Amino acid sequence: MKTLNVNTKQLSYPIYFDNSFGSLPRALSAAGLAQAAKAVVITDTNLADIYLADVTGRIKGVINDISTFTFPAGEKSKNLDTVKGVYGFFTEKNLDRKSVVFALGGGVTGDMAGFAAATFMRGVAYAQLPTSLLAQVDSSVGGKTGVDFMGHKNYIGAFHQPSLVYINTKTLNTLPPEQFTSGLGECIKHGLIGRDSDYYKFITDNADAIMAKDDAALMKLIEISCKIKADVVSYDEREHNLREILNFGHTFGHAIESLSGFNELHGHTVAQGIRGALYLSHLLGDVNIDVLQSYDLLLKRFGFPALKVDYTASDVYERMFSDKKARGGQLRLVLINGGGCAYAGANASEEQIMAAIGYILKGCAA
Ligand SMILES: NC(=O)c1ccc[n+]([C@@H]2O[C@H](COP(=O)([O-])OP(=O)(O)OC[C@H]3O[C@@H](n4cnc5c(N)ncnc54)[C@H](O)[C@@H]3O)[C@@H](O)[C@H]2O)c1
Ligand SMILES: [Zn+2]
Repeated sequence: MKTLNVNTKQLSYPIYFDNSFGSLPRALSAAGLAQAAKAVVITDTNLADIYLADVTGRIKGVINDISTFTFPAGEKSKNLDTVKGVYGFFTEKNLDRKSVVFALGGGVTGDMAGFAAATFMRGVAYAQLPTSLLAQVDSSVGGKTGVDFMGHKNYIGAFHQPSLVYINTKTLNTLPPEQFTSGLGECIKHGLIGRDSDYYKFITDNADAIMAKDDAALMKLIEISCKIKADVVSYDEREHNLREILNFGHTFGHAIESLSGFNELHGHTVAQGIRGALYLSHLLGDVNIDVLQSYDLLLKRFGFPALKVDYTASDVYERMFSDKKARGGQLRLVLINGGGCAYAGANASEEQIMAAIGYILKGCAA
């Protein structure tokens, strides 16, 4: 079992990487969670059938009083109604501030259960047991929790750092293939933002091994991605500056995701958003055309799907701005500079942004 520490101002917590849940009891003891009086494992209906018995069996070795809460899988459950159900369950089980909540699942479970843990009795400890690639390399690290509200994604939320993250890479064997490529979108993003120049090369050199879910390749992919994310969020826990670079590809991507009625998977739209951000950086003279070509090749090798486009470039442009305005913010595009590093607040004209959107949409239609 490998460990990586995430250091934030208030606390530091470990991320464990393993290929089973076998070391979970040891990880809980090391994180001081073995003293917890009660545990609640929250999971979705898909994962309950596959992993719940294994995980609760392991936890029982260290915490006796354990109960489980299962909710319907999918983004539609990431709302305050589900959280209310969780609060009710916590209350029935007499959870107190010495208890610990486990989020077993993808980003939806982690965000929703993390938010319930952040707010119940002003905060109880929680542990992330991420099972989707997206959750393993992105959402389980960084302490952002929350739910969707009135059609807005992640509108209600809180920062609440987990006590530990335990990643069992073998869970990816049961993850639907399209969810796997979606997670790869975030890994590729980590490779391109200039925090570790070898990581993108590792991904391209090992694309076949990653697709074949080779043990060593997957472990390295996830470990380095977590390290990059952990480094960035340690510097800037609450997204004042540096953390913004993690939004690379996301301004274009979110607009497209939202125009699709959230039918497209997040990582798929992010991968397309990255195409737009790279193209725009190219128009500004900072990124070579070879980078764009090799990027497209990589998406092909990973089998990223073309998106279903039933909107225009102007629709995407307007959505990019209206989403930000709705949140009282300004559009701050994240692009790549001449030194190969991501930066926020790029200056680009409407014409250049429209050209980048055109580049994305043309690629999707092909
Ligand atoms: N907190 C953050 O920093 C952050 C960052 C990025 C994304 N997010 C959030 O994460 C969510 C998306 O995460 P996601 O893509 O993991 O969604 P998800 O949790 O809905 O998981 C996707 C699907 O895969 C299934 N699944 C997950 N792991 C599985 C496994 N091992 N075997 C079989 N099926 C499995 C789930 O049941 C679900 O149907 C969004 O709500 C997004 O807003 C949060
Ligand atoms: Zn993302």
